This record gives sequence, C-alpha cells and structure tokens, in this order.
Amino acid sequence: MDLGIAGRKALLNGASRGLGKACAVALAQEGADLTIVARTRDVLERTCDEIRAATGVTVVPVVGDITTDAGRKAAIAACPAPDIMLNNADGPLPGDFRYWTRNDWIVALDAMMLGPIEMIRLTVDGMIGRGFGRIINIVSRSVKIPQLELGLSNGARSGLVGFVSGLARQTVAHNVTINNLLPGIFDSDAQRRHIKGMLKEGGKSFDEIWRDRAAANPAMRYGNPAELAAYFAFLCSIHAGFITGQNLLIDGGSYPGTY
Ligand SMILES: NC(=O)c1ccc[n+]([C@@H]2O[C@H](COP(=O)([O-])OP(=O)(O)OC[C@H]3O[C@@H](n4cnc5c(N)ncnc54)[C@H](OP(=O)(O)O)[C@@H]3O)[C@@H](O)[C@H]2O)c1
Repeated sequence: MDLGIAGRKALLNGASRGLGKACAVALAQEGADLTIVARTRDVLERTCDEIRAATGVTVVPVVGDITTDAGRKAAIAACPAPDIMLNNADGPLPGDFRYWTRNDWIVALDAMMLGPIEMIRLTVDGMIGRGFGRIINIVSRSVKIPQLELGLSNGARSGLVGFVSGLARQTVAHNVTINNLLPGIFDSDAQRRHIKGMLKEGGKSFDEIWRDRAAANPAMRYGNPAELAAYFAFLCSIHAGFITGQNLLIDGGSYPGTY
C-alpha cells in the first residue's frame, strides 16, 4: 500500500531509540523527511545517519529535552510546519504514591501530559491551515489497564488521552487527526529500565521477571518496535483521515476485555 506521505515533513519527538526510532524508520521508508528530537547527541546522530543511509530522506537531528520549553522551541525551530508529529518521551519509574511529592507529579505531568499538549498547541493550527495533519502520541496500555506499580503513568497519561479525546473531534474536519498508541510490553530500553525498577532484595531476578512478563502475555512474547511502527505509519497515511481520537492498543492481546 502506498501511504501517500512521501515528501511530508515529520517531527518525531523522542525518536533516537526504541518505539520512537522504529516510527522514524517506518516514515523514512515511506519517503517522509524527518526531524528527530532526543537528549543524547551521539545516539541521536547515529540514528539519523543510519536512517539517511538506508532511505535517502532528509533527517535533521535536534538535541533537546522535549519536556522543557527550550527543547520544544528547538524542535519547532528545526521543523516549524510539520505535517506529521509524534509525541513521545520517557515514562516514569515504578513506585508507591505515598512517597511522591508534588514535584514528582509535576515532572510526570510535564513529560506525559502538559508537554505533548503544548506541542499540539504549537503545531495544530498550522496543520489545520494546510489541510493535512497527523498527530500521534505514544501513551501506554496503563490508560486502559492500570499498572499497579505505575501510578504516575496511570494518572498523567489519562490526562492526555482525556484532553485529546475532545480536541481530536474539533480538528478532523480539517483532515487533522490525533490518536494515541497504547503499547503493551515491547522489547526496548524503557522495558528494561522498568524491570530494573521492579527488582526487590530477595525477590525475582531481572531475567525471571523478563521471562514472566513475556509468559503472562497471550502472545507469549514482547512486541517488536517495528510492529508498533507499522501501525503508526498507517495512522500517518492519507488513508487514515477518518480515524481520530482513538486509543489503539498494541499489546499482544493483554487487555482482557472484548470492547
Ligand atoms: N517499551 C514498552 O514496553 C512500553 C510499554 C508501555 C509504554 N511505553 C512508553 O512508551 C514510551 C517510549 O518507550 P521506549 O520503550 O521506546 O523507550 P526508550 O527505548 O527508552 O526510548 C525513548 C526515546 O525517547 C527519547 N527521549 C526520552 N525522554 C526524552 C525527552 N525528555 N526529550 C527528548 N527525547 C526523549 C530517548 O532518547 P534520549 O534518552 O537520548 O533523550 C529515546 O530516543 C515511553 O514513554 C514508555 O514509558 C513503553
């Protein structure tokens, strides 16, 4: 299928590794030009070189923290009129809400709710004016299946999807769609960090937890980031203009409900 996005400008926040990188690769394979934002310069530049060499598209690196005003400013300066935007950044570590301060919550909201909303505010009217826009937020299955150890994610990400649910219905008439991808367990650095955060003295080892999580999934495995990226690329395509405000699980069937 031709996704019809060759030559489109895509701004991918949090895309030098993991799920974001896979999304960047998928769009480059469709001929979109990329601007990729991440904090760690050498990893980012390596990813940009790799994608350029493999696909021949233009790939602009932006070193910055997308949860800050300075990072957002740098992203928009490098790609002022994106047709496609991915919102993505780190998730929080596991913990007990009894120990979270107000500042812990503000950091979580900046990363998982207020930051993405600000990026949407900075880009959506341009997309509406140009008559094409695809905004996709990588969220988490935690908004449908609360993860007991991840209260910051359950809370902050639900704020983003609640907000998007209303806005997405106001932009779709202009061919600007906003959707959320809800990953289950994927084989990535964030998954490894998450498991390290679950280790307890005298408890299961990293390898045991890693295996148990795979075994508990109906697919009996972790997702491959390319599987999420294929879905992402379709949602960015010219064919997906009637899909908006959706929370799309990609989780190997771990969500246990019918609807
Ligand atoms: N993997 C899973 O199983 C899973 C499941 C559910 C939800 N999620 C969520 O999905 C998101 C992506 O996960 P992942 O597995 O792809 O993570 P990852 O492998 O750690 O990759 C995260 C990417 O985002 C960049 N990044 C992180 N924070 C950033 C910031 N503040 N500003 C700019 N760039 C930033 C990282 O580069 P730098 O570190 O260099 O900035 C990296 O390129 C996370 O929010 C995670 O919680 C993941």
